[in-house]
Amino acid sequence: MFDLHSHVLPFVDDGAKDVEMSLAMLKTAKEQGVELVAATPHCMAKDSEAVDDLLEKRQNSYEKLISAIKDKSEYPEIILGSEVHLCKDISDYPNLSALCYQNTNYILLELPGKNSPSEIAEWIYNISIKGLRPVIAHIDRYPDYDEIMDELSHLDVIYQVNAARFLTMGDRHLLKKIFKGHNRFFVSSDMHNVTTRVSNMGRAKEIADKKFSAMSNMLFEEGGRAVVENRSFPAFR
Ligand SMILES: [Fe+2]
Repeated sequence: MFDLHSHVLPFVDDGAKDVEMSLAMLKTAKEQGVELVAATPHCMAKDSEAVDDLLEKRQNSYEKLISAIKDKSEYPEIILGSEVHLCKDISDYPNLSALCYQNTNYILLELPGKNSPSEIAEWIYNISIKGLRPVIAHIDRYPDYDEIMDELSHLDVIYQVNAARFLTMGDRHLLKKIFKGHNRFFVSSDMHNVTTRVSNMGRAKEIADKKFSAMSNMLFEEGGRAVVENRSFPAFR
C-alpha cells in the first residue's frame, strides 16, 4: 500500500512530537503493509517566504528522522511532500512546486473553510495552469463536499479520502456518496500520532476489499503508485 498523507515528520507541525514517535508511526504502517509513506507536513503558505521556511524545517526534520533509522527494512520508504493550505495568491509563489510530492507535479491541497466553492475552484484552476496537478486532501472532511466537487468537475483534480472513513458503517455510507461524484480517488491515513490519529490503512484495506471490492486496489495501491511515479492518474470508470 501507499500512504500519501501523513504527519510523520518530527518537530514540524501538529504531527509527530519527536523522532521516537515518528519511528513508532512508521513501524505501525509497515506492519500493516504500507510500503511507502509520503511525509506531508502542513504548510500555511501565507506567502512564498513561508514556503521557504517550511522547506527548511522539513529538510532538517527529515534528516533527523533518517539518521535515526538503523534498519531500513523495518520501515516504509519515505518521500517528501506537504499538505498545502490553499489561499488566494498561492499560484503566484515561485517556489510552490517545491511542495509537490517528491519528483512529481502532484500537490496535496487542504481547502480553506471560509471561502466559497467557486473561489476555491478559481484558485485551484490557477494552480493547475501552472502545470501542477492538484490533489484535494480528505474531501470527506468538508460538509459541502458535493458543492466543491461540482465546482471542480471541469478541472483535472484527484481526491484523497481518509482511511478511518472505512471503519464505520455511517462513514462508509458517506464514502459511497462521495465516490459517486468523481472517478479518481486514493486513500491515505492522515496519521498524526500513535494514539488518537493513527494509521489504520491495513484495517481500512481489509474492509474496502469486501465493501468496495471493485475500487480497493485503485484506492490503496494503484492510485498512489501513479502519483509517486508522476503518471496520469487512472480512473475507476
Ligand atoms: Fe493532514
